[in-house]
Amino acid sequence: SQASSSLQQMCEPSIYRDDDYADLDWDNLGFGIMPTDYMYLMKCSNGEDFEQGQLNRYGNIELGPAAGVLNYGQAVYEGTKVHRKEDGRLLLFRPEQNAIRMKFGAERMSMPSPSIDQFVDAVKQTVLANKRWVPPPGKGSLYIRPLLMGSGQILGLGAAPEYTFLVYVSPVGNYFKEGFAPLNLYVEKEFDRASRGGTGGIKSITNYAPGLKALTKAKNRGFSDVLYLDSVNRKNIEEVSSCNIFIVKGNAISTPAVNGTILPGVTRRSIIEIALDHGYQVEERVIPIDELIDADEVFCTGTAVGVASVGSTTYEGKRIKFKTGAQTVSQELYSTLVGIKTGLIEDKMDWIVEI
Ligand code: COI
Repeated sequence: SQASSSLQQMCEPSIYRDDDYADLDWDNLGFGIMPTDYMYLMKCSNGEDFEQGQLNRYGNIELGPAAGVLNYGQAVYEGTKVHRKEDGRLLLFRPEQNAIRMKFGAERMSMPSPSIDQFVDAVKQTVLANKRWVPPPGKGSLYIRPLLMGSGQILGLGAAPEYTFLVYVSPVGNYFKEGFAPLNLYVEKEFDRASRGGTGGIKSITNYAPGLKALTKAKNRGFSDVLYLDSVNRKNIEEVSSCNIFIVKGNAISTPAVNGTILPGVTRRSIIEIALDHGYQVEERVIPIDELIDADEVFCTGTAVGVASVGSTTYEGKRIKFKTGAQTVSQELYSTLVGIKTGLIEDKMDWIVEI
């Protein structure tokens, strides 16, 4: 009835009002965690399907000391973003790709995973409930972090008896403190990111903490991030700790082929498709470090990172510089990607999910 719908409107939290923004300094967003209003939680026990999930107030979660994730690292995560268009609509970017990647990763980590629909629905619900945290157009985006973990307790090594899927969000700007300035990468020769037959090709939480030592060392020396080589010969470029890598030579753009040690990035794939559409030759293959040294241009891609131009790489004590600035291939591809993500360029590829 009319009375009950107006009562519903009165009770509707103000977060659903379009003109309502969280009280934030929108001009100075970095990449940090900010407590927002809601997070999504969904559980699955003892081989059953995931039960109906729900939004909860954002906050701490309870885990037993013997939770599989805490002791044996059984978890995978995802990252995706939503942008606010000028007309106020919210644009998600290929969220089903993240759902598919989580499924693939969960299978490798012996975990059940939400269906594609459950995943995308959870992302949509979490974004809508936190709408006031989506930055104004041009000021950044709302980063979405879906996480799937073995939350049940287990003492001997084995798959956890219960799993929790959760989604939280945080408004973000640039990932690197350099902002849009070109990155200076350090080519790591002591540590590896991933090995053959391991988990480098999925978004397992266990891929990240082992990289902190090299990352901290590189950051202390003034570098932006670490570029890893293959673990067999330490000869071919693989991946940066937070993103994928591309090299440009003439009209050819190359990136390491996805072979089990490279994360199949959604931004990586999208940049490949945009580059092909723009008439570049794109190669996914093995790339010796010598070829990177000889490249015209180098750039990184990732959901958090976006498309970041690389100004230099330092390998065996030698600093090699690359072309940067407005007239670069990375800038051209980046403009198209951002245009599509923010609704300013036509979405020919059908990548945007509007909510
Ligand atoms: C992302 O790009 O979404 C990631 O998950 C990378 C992470 C190191 C922030």
